[in-house]
Amino acid sequence: MKGIILAGGEGTRLRPTTLVTNKHLLPVYNKPMIFYPITTLVSAGITEIMIVTGVNHKEDFLEVLKDGSEFGAKFTYGLQEKPGGIAQALGLCKEFAGNEKILVILGDNVVEDNIKSVVENFQHQEKGAKIFLSEVDNPKSYGVAEIEGEKIVNIEEKPESPKTNLAVIGLYMYDAQVWDIITDLKPSGRGELEITDVNNNYIQKGEMTYEKLTGFWGDAGESFDSMLDTANYLAKK
Ligand code: G1P
Repeated sequence: MKGIILAGGEGTRLRPTTLVTNKHLLPVYNKPMIFYPITTLVSAGITEIMIVTGVNHKEDFLEVLKDGSEFGAKFTYGLQEKPGGIAQALGLCKEFAGNEKILVILGDNVVEDNIKSVVENFQHQEKGAKIFLSEVDNPKSYGVAEIEGEKIVNIEEKPESPKTNLAVIGLYMYDAQVWDIITDLKPSGRGELEITDVNNNYIQKGEMTYEKLTGFWGDAGESFDSMLDTANYLAKK
């Protein structure tokens, strides 16, 4: 299974700190933000990793992360030339992934749980996708999952009136069907290819499973407040 870290975007929500470098390289407590998702992948046994960056400060990534050997990994880099959404950035990784299943993580997501056993189980899942849910106080800021019994039936992206407090975090596992799904996507109202549309496609086919996180989850790049909350949690730990 191959790993993909999506670290594009212009970091407009974190200006002026993102004028000098990319959002994903800003410190969260004692490490650059992107070190956390790298650790999540490597601890799950995934060491072949493609990192997609945006055009802003792209050279900084090479300077900080190099070829990946310091993390026990091998990095390949990709460039998202225009902000076109998470699913568009993911589409750039098709050749890298080949026919393998993939684990995708957003470069600002800090996940405390070790997901090694979930990843191993997904290797045996015949087909489809798996997402991770976390209970949050502010579901309006995220993709929100609707559950019926044990089944996930829909995801709404940043809904006005969330049906649950279960955020879909920025960590996704897909089989190779994902590439055709992305090719068929239509841009959303904000003109982007949405990862939530990819996930709803798997849900409609009845091929989506989910796992609830028990440990801490932080979307460190969402706002200065979420960055601070994440840093405070890590510092206390
Ligand atoms: C993205 C996804 C959203 C998800 C979130 C997790 O939102 O669109 O569904 O809940 O990541 O970090 P963004 O943070 O890009 O606004």
